[in-house]
Amino acid sequence: MIDAVERKIEQYLGELNDPYVFGLYRNLPHGKRLRTKLILKIAGSALKVVKTAATVEMIHAASLLHDDVIDDAYTRRGQTSVNADKGNKTAIMLGDILYSKAFFELNSISPEVAKVISNAVVALSLGELADVRLSEHFHTNRDAYLKMLYQKTASLMEASAEAGAILAGKNRQAYRQYGRNLGIAFQMIDDILDITEDSKTLGKPALHDFVEGKVTLPYIYLYEVLEEEDRTFLRSLHKKQLSDDEANWIKSAMKKHKTIEKSYAEATLLIEEAIALMESLGEHDLTNIAKAMIERKF
Ligand code: FPP
Ligand code: MG
Repeated sequence: MIDAVERKIEQYLGELNDPYVFGLYRNLPHGKRLRTKLILKIAGSALKVVKTAATVEMIHAASLLHDDVIDDAYTRRGQTSVNADKGNKTAIMLGDILYSKAFFELNSISPEVAKVISNAVVALSLGELADVRLSEHFHTNRDAYLKMLYQKTASLMEASAEAGAILAGKNRQAYRQYGRNLGIAFQMIDDILDITEDSKTLGKPALHDFVEGKVTLPYIYLYEVLEEEDRTFLRSLHKKQLSDDEANWIKSAMKKHKTIEKSYAEATLLIEEAIALMESLGEHDLTNIAKAMIERKF
């Protein structure tokens, strides 16, 4: 059924009658299609469901195109990013085309679904801006970090699950909660993998978050337990191109103070809550999606 969603996206983009734009989209590397999986598992494969998943994937692709411009990222999923290959202007406009067309199509699905998804895109954008601002300086504000993470990543998963529930006539609140927990845990794991995995596995440079200015949970927890001298040293590495020694210092300090484990435990708790919720509703497939998320390596 994921194929049906892909075909729907291609149909939507075909309607634009612009082979260049169509080609640009076709060259984008496919992600895990997590939001599509959620929507289809919750709501089945009726045309409205496929259309909803297609619009969500288009919005997600748009957000990543813009994110790579904002982050100055040269790769996306192991491939040269559009901004690196074709320039910022093209990446921004391709993003604009994808999300405008998605919004246009959303209107003919259901007003409730359109409301939920468009509201999530507002949150997504607020989250990205918060991310930019938080990355300007070293910080240890866990609450601000978690709020940003919810907005930037979880809001669209939350909305996807809720949209699925709306289309299937299921309990909106329960699926919304499931999507939110999954989304927050997803980004927490993403932040952990940035530290624990090598760049080849990630398809992007490792320890890149801190170099970019992003102070993620394992760094916040590390700072909390370090002595003053080490705190100063950690702060001095923020937004800096790290030497191998410096990268190793960070990794071994995190190992010593178990800050990866602490962050991972937090993600696991959210996943367990999501699993319990879905088990209580007999949604075993959704339980499996949640389990796979916590075990992923990229
Ligand atoms: C990835 O974060 C970024 C997001 C999940 C959301 C980005 C959202 C926007 C740019 C707003 C988009 C607005 C519209 C209208 C579509 P990351 O940089 O932490 O993750 P990465 O490692 O995958 O780049
Ligand atoms: Mg990014």
